[in-house]
Amino acid sequence: MDRIIVTGGQELRGQIPIAGAKNACLTLMPAALLTSEPLTLTNAPRLSDIATMTELLSSLGCEVASLQDGRVLALGTERISNHTAHYDIVRKMRASILVLGPMLARDGEAVVSLPGGCAIGARPVDIHLSGLEAMGAELDLRDGYVHAKAPDGLIGAEYTLPFASVGGTENLLMAATLARGTTVLHNVAREPEIVDLAHCLRAMGARIEGEGTETLTIHGVDKLHGATHRVVTDRIELGTYMLAPVIAGGEVELIGGRRDLLECFCEKLETAGAVISETPDGLLVRRDGPIRPVDIKTEVHPGFPTDLQAQMMALLTLAEGTSVLEETIFENRFMHAPELIRMGADIDVHGGIATVHGVAGLKGAPVMATDLRASVSLILAGLAAEGETVVSRVYHLDRGYEHLVRKLSACGADIRREKE
Ligand code: EPZ
Repeated sequence: MDRIIVTGGQELRGQIPIAGAKNACLTLMPAALLTSEPLTLTNAPRLSDIATMTELLSSLGCEVASLQDGRVLALGTERISNHTAHYDIVRKMRASILVLGPMLARDGEAVVSLPGGCAIGARPVDIHLSGLEAMGAELDLRDGYVHAKAPDGLIGAEYTLPFASVGGTENLLMAATLARGTTVLHNVAREPEIVDLAHCLRAMGARIEGEGTETLTIHGVDKLHGATHRVVTDRIELGTYMLAPVIAGGEVELIGGRRDLLECFCEKLETAGAVISETPDGLLVRRDGPIRPVDIKTEVHPGFPTDLQAQMMALLTLAEGTSVLEETIFENRFMHAPELIRMGADIDVHGGIATVHGVAGLKGAPVMATDLRASVSLILAGLAAEGETVVSRVYHLDRGYEHLVRKLSACGADIRREKE
């Protein structure tokens, strides 16, 4: 396994290009199962999760060609030759569950391994399943798999999600595009990745209203056709790199950055002392004065994104005062806290609340990553820490951040990757 070594103290200056969104691409790719015609995705990120989704879709009979060094994905599913998504792939990436709705909608059958939990929580899929049942699917859970059938096709239904689940919304939205009649989904997720999926499905001929609001209305059609769609900018990669010049000092331009994707996060970052200005090519970020404390509560979009909580905590460990972070989306998403404490941070965690008492400085240390966003919060802390921070198990990082070392070192960070 590789590790990343960061030596703190370097101010950052330069530009960081922001890639296409991992969490948009992971739902756009399964949409290719909905049609026999080609779906082309541009601005695709080059990440290990995309390779895993490619492996899964290929096992189902979907041809996936990676073009232009992985920036363009050309997908085509003339027919689904295998309707079973096996555990050995699904266990590597929970987003695999997103092939369930499309396979059911296209062919009326699907067998998908239950994804199981992960480091940040139990991650059930009950909302995905109850929504599909509302649309007429017959589901049988046995031996760790969902055996799903809809022999006469899915039927439009009215369904209220108990929680605005991102994946649940994506699965049901894709399934509804080919259902007979109209589907109305209430209390859906409103994340930019949902809006991006709706735009792509509409380009494929789907009839959808309400994306970005709490209610989606989908009028089923008989068939969808091919399309070419540009993957939306990755707001989580964007927010992560916006934090880099704020924690390390300096000024960085995030190429492709869009403030409208992260309004709540930007407001909190400005409260913490950042100056964010829009440029013709993206967003320019620097810090003005000391890092100031700010209270954070993670919420569904448009609230503060849970996927940026760990990164914000890294910054707030150096604030002049106390910040309270409340994690409301996942039950166990403070695993970065013990590692930050080893670097000298002063953090008290009780249940879903982390109280961060700012300290004057952090000290580099060997630290262990446990999930994708926890990993990158340790890198950010290392940029500001005195001395060397060694982050191991960086395979977590490769799931969500392409060329992280190259992007940060191009702005002057003292950072390298080596074999462990
Ligand atoms: C998506 O996961 C993202 N992953 C996550 O990003 C992100 O943290 C999450 O949305 C919330 O924004 C992808 O898009 C691939 P959820 P998802 O369904 O769809 C509960 C990253 O770092 N829930 O909105 O799994 C669940 O337990 C990853 O890029 C149910 O109870 O998130 C959790 O507590 C991490 N039943 C909460 O909802 C269900 O059927 C949020 O889950 C589904 C979810």
